[in-house]
Amino acid sequence: MTPDLTLSGFKIYEQFLPPAAQRDLVDTLRDAVRETPFVQPVTPSGKLMSVRMTSMGRLGWITDRAGYRYAPTHVNGRAWPAIPETVLGIWHAVSEVSRLPDACLLNHYSEGARMGLHQDKDEGDFSWPVVSISLGDEALFRMGGIERSDPTRSVWLRSGDVVVMGGAARLAYHGVDRIKFGTSPLLPKGGRLNLTLRVVV
Ligand code: SIN
Ligand code: FE2
Repeated sequence: MTPDLTLSGFKIYEQFLPPAAQRDLVDTLRDAVRETPFVQPVTPSGKLMSVRMTSMGRLGWITDRAGYRYAPTHVNGRAWPAIPETVLGIWHAVSEVSRLPDACLLNHYSEGARMGLHQDKDEGDFSWPVVSISLGDEALFRMGGIERSDPTRSVWLRSGDVVVMGGAARLAYHGVDRIKFGTSPLLPKGGRLNLTLRVVV
């Protein structure tokens, strides 16, 4: 585990998931999202995101012209699949809270995809941590403070790393500047998968 990057409550559990567990998880996710496939969403201003997304859990995070929000179904009308037990096990192991997450966002980054600096702030209660799991290609993760203008620091996240943003880091600005395509053999077509677990209400 690496100590604070900038704020207390920010933790990186390096190589939390060994390679075999990463492969099992990818198989589980492939089955889970078969009927709620990845979509390439647009931001409220109409900009096509470079990351493709889907969700698991009671609620899924979505974005379209109507805004950023949580929804109980995929755009195809189907309920999101349950968050797999193995993923809930990771949440319990690192979050240090007894509550279960409501939502698990899946982000897929193919070559050239990125995620601009943002806060996770569509939830009703920021006292619960956010837990994020990295699978596949390495990603340059940027972490700042609670103001957009605060200084930022960057760290490479690798397949199997788990990040926790709780406490003072819960509302910290963060994003992914780029991925290093082809650095992991985990996903057959390359790229990166990120799972973000959150308590919503
Ligand atoms: C996010 O903040 O939504 C994604 C973070 C990541 O991909 O590591
Ligand atoms: Fe985020």
